Amino acid sequence: MPSIQACLFDLDGVIVDTAQFHYIAWREMAQDLGFDLTREENERLKGISRMESLEIVLSIGGVQLSDEEKLRRAAAKNTRYLELCMQMTPDDALPGVRHFLDELKQNGIPSGLGSASKNAKAILERIDMLHYFDTIVDGNRITKGKPDPQVFLMGAADLSVPAAHCAVFEDAVAGIQSAKAAGMLAVGIGEASVLTEADIVIPGFENFGLPQLENI
Ligand code: G6P
Ligand code: MG
Repeated sequence: MPSIQACLFDLDGVIVDTAQFHYIAWREMAQDLGFDLTREENERLKGISRMESLEIVLSIGGVQLSDEEKLRRAAAKNTRYLELCMQMTPDDALPGVRHFLDELKQNGIPSGLGSASKNAKAILERIDMLHYFDTIVDGNRITKGKPDPQVFLMGAADLSVPAAHCAVFEDAVAGIQSAKAAGMLAVGIGEASVLTEADIVIPGFENFGLPQLENI
């Protein structure tokens, strides 16, 4: 692989485990509408925008809503999600990730955030990690969601680093597809049996640093 000059990070499931809160909030909405949402079904929502996630959840329950009601439900889900997120503290960053971001900074390698979330900045502030990122590409900036490469290509452009010299850290299938479509090195965070299109899959950032990244 060409040498890595920038690292781009997904937020949910990579920097912090907010997936559990998305799950709780979507599940409560589903139950309110009369059906359940399993953890397995929740996997399909990772990396997918709020409104697309809503459509998937409604299709799982076979529920149809008016556009107005969809917007109301999505807003209510987000209020509940943020209420859960605000319980987090800086200790909730996933193990090893802060150390890895420090290592990148010390070595002059810029970091960017590439997330579909419209809450990305608020969450990074909450866990005191906003300062690590030289650019933030979030759900308020992108017009095409993952698996489209836009989110990571915008991050690379912001950092003035060619795509081929960027590494992406992602826990979602759609996010790995987005990184590969952008022509970047895709590091999966999670299980190799799920993230089959990643260049390499690691369980997390513990025992992972620049030497390991350079050896991929
Ligand atoms: C991330 C999560 C998704 C979530 C999306 C939008 O990509 O993995 O599960 O739906 O962000 O998040 P938001 O905070 O804008 O509702
Ligand atoms: Mg994610």
